[in-house]
Amino acid sequence: MEKQVLSLKNLTLYRGDEVILKDVSWEITDGDHWALLGPNGSGKTTLLNIVSGNLWPSRGEVSVLGKQFGKTDLRELRKHIGWVTTFLTERVPQRETALRVVLSGKYASFGIYEKIDEEDREKAKSLLQFMDCSYVEDRSFRIISQGERQKVLIARALMADPALMVLDEPCTGLDVKARRNLLASISRICREKETTVIYVTHHFEEIIPEIDKAIMLKEGRVFAKGRTQEVLSEQIIEELFK
Ligand SMILES: Nc1ncnc2c1ncn2[C@@H]1O[C@H](COP(=O)(O)OP(=O)(O)O)[C@@H](O)[C@H]1O
Ligand SMILES: [Mg+2]
Repeated sequence: MEKQVLSLKNLTLYRGDEVILKDVSWEITDGDHWALLGPNGSGKTTLLNIVSGNLWPSRGEVSVLGKQFGKTDLRELRKHIGWVTTFLTERVPQRETALRVVLSGKYASFGIYEKIDEEDREKAKSLLQFMDCSYVEDRSFRIISQGERQKVLIARALMADPALMVLDEPCTGLDVKARRNLLASISRICREKETTVIYVTHHFEEIIPEIDKAIMLKEGRVFAKGRTQEVLSEQIIEELFK
């Protein structure tokens, strides 16, 4: 049977009188990767902040990996979700080596406070290899390129074998070549890892073929939802920018 990865029912969020999200419903089952689309300011990051349990909706129901919010231990749940966000990039201790940054993913922490065993070290190395960036292993996070940083952070997220991975605008700030390279690694994750990917972007050309479904927000509301090709049809995109 297909497992439920995410279920949002009529999610609504107000800030004062302003509606930030309005009646957003979204179901993800195991086996489909999703794009979360929408122009700047449409509510994508806010929606994710609700999914991560960092923000509480004004109305609506949230459950992630079969656990209903309000009835579950969020700290426990967070261990099964891999987040790659700008916020994270800023929190990483800049002097740590790339390999240690990946290793820290096992503890969902930013430094390493426990003894590292050989098995974990091998796993971290093979994840860097999987991301095609073994060569940065011993370099400090501070000196590696933006594209390499994103790969290291994705490897870090994979270290915990997450059931769900959320990539919030991972290609921001990358040039064409670095972007192509990162997207190739993300394709490989979609195909080969046992995880559901949510790929967030306002650049529709970043949507790789492995992303089966898409949800599009406009001004905090669901504007379109369904198979990626249908959501990204000319008609819908034209409507979106009207
Ligand atoms: N802490 C906040 N307080 C008030 N408004 C906010 C806050 N965070 C986001 N918003 C507003 O919510 C809307 C959606 O923002 P956001 O979720 O960051 O959009 P996106 O990620 O799609 O670019 C924007 O209009 C933004 O100004
Ligand atoms: Mg955002």
